[in-house]
Amino acid sequence: MNTVRIGVMGCADIALRRMLPAFAASPHTEVTAIASRGADKARAAAEAYGCAAVEGYEALLERPDVDAVYVPLPAALHARWTERALRAGKHVLAEKPLTTRAADTARLLGLARELGLALAENHLFVHHHTYATVKDLVTSGVIGEVRSLYASFTIPPRPASDIRYRADLGGGALLDIGVYPIRLASLLLGPELKVRGAVLRHDSARGVDLGGSAHLDAPSTGAGAHLVFGMEHHYTAGWRLLGSEGSLALDRAYSPAAGHRPVLRIEHADGAEDRVLPAHDQAAARVAAFARAVRGGEGDEAPVLRQAELVDAVHRAAHVTTV
Ligand SMILES: NC(=O)c1ccc[n+]([C@@H]2O[C@H](COP(=O)([O-])OP(=O)(O)OC[C@H]3O[C@@H](n4cnc5c(N)ncnc54)[C@H](OP(=O)(O)O)[C@@H]3O)[C@@H](O)[C@H]2O)c1
Repeated sequence: MNTVRIGVMGCADIALRRMLPAFAASPHTEVTAIASRGADKARAAAEAYGCAAVEGYEALLERPDVDAVYVPLPAALHARWTERALRAGKHVLAEKPLTTRAADTARLLGLARELGLALAENHLFVHHHTYATVKDLVTSGVIGEVRSLYASFTIPPRPASDIRYRADLGGGALLDIGVYPIRLASLLLGPELKVRGAVLRHDSARGVDLGGSAHLDAPSTGAGAHLVFGMEHHYTAGWRLLGSEGSLALDRAYSPAAGHRPVLRIEHADGAEDRVLPAHDQAAARVAAFARAVRGGEGDEAPVLRQAELVDAVHRAAHVTTV
């Protein structure tokens, strides 16, 4: 089967740093064009990949040599440009969050289905082999019955001009950072999770939330999740899954480098073990999964919609403290 020809919409940091190298290295994809609002920016990025430089996003969608578009724009622009790309007949891999509202996510997933196009949200960590190992361990009963998950993703402040501080661009810690532990909770505790409470620290000057926490639980088992996120913190990216007879814990859970060997802490009645797991390139795995979806293979619609509904539910449930 031919490789999927990728057009990149915007010279975002995540595109230059992580996804362009992954698309270029993959046997399943090739980068044919990179677009930017600025011609010089597009040219500089395209030179490095020997592909076409395109000024403006609309022009990218008109290209016949682009099968699929990667959308790493600020969150509030994802829905608009994803819809335009789908209507131009392109498959889409959009950065997380796919949109800023569950209703938009549902509408776009429906549109993609109607048009027979792949639409995926770019959560990388769910493609890391570590999570298959974690699920196997849980299923094998190593920690007994799952009782609760504690997960945090917190980062230090960003430069003042960062898109995460721009309310009009869909900024804020919940949409940018909180979405990771929320996605993790669904992965580890299942799709039936309900949001039972939340807190957001709201920056009144910039109009965005800087951090917060959320409590969720799975009604059928009562297993709960306490999730913490923020962008005015010390860096943390870890979780601990507590069971009736033991626990599992992982650090550097969301963005491990391709060569990083995750260390999974396993504690149970007989003792503790730090199990060093194989390295895995989650961006390469993500790209391969997207290429399969483009070729008519598996999609991942249900978790994408559930994720958007949970993020909406956190917003609705949140007690907002203004700072
Ligand atoms: N999956 C992951 O691991 C991961 C990691 C980090 C970020 N992300 C997500 O990726 C997206 C981009 O994040 P980032 O940190 O890479 O952002 P960024 O460096 O600020 O890039 C955003 C890009 O969007 C384009 N853009 C279009 N309109 C814009 C506007 N009005 N203001 C600013 N930029 C505009 C710009 O490209 P041009 O100027 O070239 O047109 C800019 O380079 C976000 O949704 C974020 O949550 C995902």
